[in-house]
Amino acid sequence: MDWGQRNRLYQIIKSDGRTVMLAVDHGYFQGPTYRIENPKKTIEPLLPFADAVMLTRGVLRSSITHETNTSIVLRVSGGNSIVGQLANEEIITSIRDAIRLNASAIAISIYVGTEFEHQTLTCLAKLVDEGQDYGIPVIAVTAVGKELEKREARYLALCCRIAAELGASIVKTYYCEDFTKVVEGCPVPLVIAGGPKLETEMDIFNLVYDAIDAGAIGVDMGRNIWQNDHPIAVIKAIRSIVHENATAKEAYELFLKIKNNQ
Ligand code: R5P
Repeated sequence: MDWGQRNRLYQIIKSDGRTVMLAVDHGYFQGPTYRIENPKKTIEPLLPFADAVMLTRGVLRSSITHETNTSIVLRVSGGNSIVGQLANEEIITSIRDAIRLNASAIAISIYVGTEFEHQTLTCLAKLVDEGQDYGIPVIAVTAVGKELEKREARYLALCCRIAAELGASIVKTYYCEDFTKVVEGCPVPLVIAGGPKLETEMDIFNLVYDAIDAGAIGVDMGRNIWQNDHPIAVIKAIRSIVHENATAKEAYELFLKIKNNQ
């Protein structure tokens, strides 16, 4: 791997080999999602606590200050919507624009097992080729669309392995029962999404702890952070698990402490 690509990956995966990525790209297919209707208002206070932020070029240019030190993971696939064919994504942002925006990585969703499987997988492969030309790592997102029941080890292991085989540098997937099987079958680092908002904060911290314990290198999480009434307390508590090996209980205690001092 060339110096540029290694350096870009280092902007995302810190020296401890772990990462806390903040996902705020939901609007590209579901519009003004609850609590990121005004992206700037939600994202800016959280940026100092994220190793990287995952978003589209539209939100980056309109809502994020160029003075940020947080690394940029640019979502470059889309062209779909929640009211249309959710899996029908293609590459919607050029590698030139990703370079102009100083992206540390580019991200694309793949929809294995749908009628758009071939299209999204070949888009991933093309993106990896382009990324290699310019030293930009690619993050593949194993999307499940509306079918949340697809979050099971056999399916996710298949998706993650295919993404790794096609050249993704990092794979983003969901935590599931038997998650170690997903990790073992994937020769590149894995991060987990959070999925829809969980019932309690303890559920969030258990999810993060279990994923890290099973071998994930971190999270790329959105709704469970910024749909919470205390998003800074949540992201700081998540950081304590990812970067300081805190237990879920210790993270919850930290969450309460920060929440009560706010
Ligand atoms: C979904 O397609 C997006 O890539 C989101 O960034 C991803 O689902 C992570 O967000 P959340 O933690 O809200 O599931």
